[in-house]
Amino acid sequence: MDRGLTLRACTAKSKTHCFGIFMALFRRKKRSKAQLTSRDADGHIDARIQEIGSVLLKGMNDNPGGFGGSGFTANLVQSVMEDHDFKVEMFRFVDVLPVLSDADEVARHIDEYFNRDGGPSMPGWMRAGAKLAGSGFAKGLVASQIERNVVAMARQFIAGETGAQALPRLRKMRQRGLSSTVDLLGEKTLGQDEAEIYRNRYLEVLESLAADANSWDDCCHEQASWGAVPRVNLSIKLSALDPHFNALDREGLLEQGRRLLGPLARRAKELGAFINVDMEDNNAREATFWLFEQLAETDDLRDWDGLGVVVQAYLNDSLADLERLCTLAKRRGTPITVRLVKGAYWDAEVIQAQQEGWPIPVYLNKADTDANYERLTRYLLDHIEWLRPAFASHNARSIAVAIAEAEAREIAPSDIEFQMLYGMAEGLMDTVSDLGFRLRIYTPVGEMLPGMAYLVRRLLENTSNEGWLVQAGEGLSAEQLLGDPVSQGGDAHASAHQTRLIAHGDANQPTAFANEPLVNPYRIASQHQWDRALAELENQLPLIVKPCINGIFEDGHDTAWVRENPNQQDQILAHVQGASLDQAERALAIAQGAFASWSSTSVNERAQLLFNLADQLRKRREQATALICLEVGKPLPEADADVAEAIDFCEYYARQALALQSL
Ligand code: 2OP
Repeated sequence: MDRGLTLRACTAKSKTHCFGIFMALFRRKKRSKAQLTSRDADGHIDARIQEIGSVLLKGMNDNPGGFGGSGFTANLVQSVMEDHDFKVEMFRFVDVLPVLSDADEVARHIDEYFNRDGGPSMPGWMRAGAKLAGSGFAKGLVASQIERNVVAMARQFIAGETGAQALPRLRKMRQRGLSSTVDLLGEKTLGQDEAEIYRNRYLEVLESLAADANSWDDCCHEQASWGAVPRVNLSIKLSALDPHFNALDREGLLEQGRRLLGPLARRAKELGAFINVDMEDNNAREATFWLFEQLAETDDLRDWDGLGVVVQAYLNDSLADLERLCTLAKRRGTPITVRLVKGAYWDAEVIQAQQEGWPIPVYLNKADTDANYERLTRYLLDHIEWLRPAFASHNARSIAVAIAEAEAREIAPSDIEFQMLYGMAEGLMDTVSDLGFRLRIYTPVGEMLPGMAYLVRRLLENTSNEGWLVQAGEGLSAEQLLGDPVSQGGDAHASAHQTRLIAHGDANQPTAFANEPLVNPYRIASQHQWDRALAELENQLPLIVKPCINGIFEDGHDTAWVRENPNQQDQILAHVQGASLDQAERALAIAQGAFASWSSTSVNERAQLLFNLADQLRKRREQATALICLEVGKPLPEADADVAEAIDFCEYYARQALALQSL
């Protein structure tokens, strides 16, 4: 059997022991330099991809070191892959663990998550510990052992709590020929103070790395054809620097960007360092690209080539992101580095889109993402003059494609870069570096608490049956591992608008109610829709609101009420007329006259009226939102939620009436 693929074959009985021996065997083995033969004379790129892929696979097999080591981690990975319910509870538990202050709390949470009725069935290796923790006996002992295990697991992905702790590791990586990008763990800060603390910590890390970097040796393939590549490289999550990070508030983004991101970028420029702006979840995408554009086009930064950003191939419209960045680079006249990734928030994107009733932004088939990655790879290489590629992947096929396609375009190895995550496939890292490519390790630094989101993302990846490394560990053949994703059903051109998984309720199925989806409040296009509706409404102001009798508007009294915008009191929204006594009496008489026919109106017809009303509201949704916004002063997304709620009432009660009738 392939040596590197035996890891998961060491199953249940003595996994830890087996793994320990396995690691010892291969740690001691001296690393042999990877080599590539010269390119096929006939230039067949597929053959070349297979050839390069085999070298990478061999490197992995010679040294499979990386995630999955300790007994606890190996057990955990195995169990969460076998049982989805357990996975959910386990990750919830891991996520909450760092905020639990004592053994009692840890024990209570174990009890609540794992010992409750209807909870997940617990794997054997956990059962005894959980029982002990629940019973109170040896509670402290069990709790602290569990904490130690989770901390040990996190340590595999996190290089140290502080920059100082991480420095020796960065130096060691350089001795191995590996460059780094340092990420301070933390995202989605909740307040201004916290955002400023992040800015200061980023500055400190930047300064200390830059000071240390003076003594770093030349290595790591850092001489590209356009000049030296910065040794100091920081990866920054913008949601750490702005607690209100949202594309709808572009003034706020700019203001906060000026205060926190701008100075950081300027200091990096002075120090000859590099700043990479990370991409986060899809809600942050537009804000991230927009702010990145502002930064890249600031007068004193537009000639700086030390700026990079991320494009995520799992997004089904990510080609447009690359095109946008290429346009930006041309506009400013200076290239931009693009880290091409598959994407780390897949589960969250799918769940959120389903919950909100939004189109799912990511490909649902892994092969589609892989195929798209290859397509984006070719786009990057075709535009290398403006977009400097950094291919971030642990997938030997994706890496081989990038190398082969670069070769086919006669691009120098030093002009492309590969990136991988700290704590993952060690052998693959060394092999790519040995082949003469710059390999940058994304190296997280920070404490457990802000690191939990990061840890859970890594756990999700490492326990996904579709993960390439997981499949490699499970013994898939080289042919399968290096196969063209298109031949595995992948389609980089798969529909950019995959259908919603939750169809809207169907009037013929009384129970099929689904909440009306909210307008996506993270998209600039939503704001444009609302802005248009607001402008139309403002053109018509002040509205004259008249009494309506038997469906016909009639002149009423002179203005009985004046409605003004509570946020801007000199804006008069409406003059509301009152009805005269005569009008009121006529209206009552008409209502009484309608009673007989209304009381004999069937439930079906009444329900239909409500469905029609819901449709009318949908058609005039932005107008209603704009009116609520101006009349009661609600923010647009909340005014939109009010309209959605009105639609929900119509849909829900019409369905309830139909359901009750059929009882
Ligand atoms: C993440 O934080 C690596 O940036 C990526 O998951």
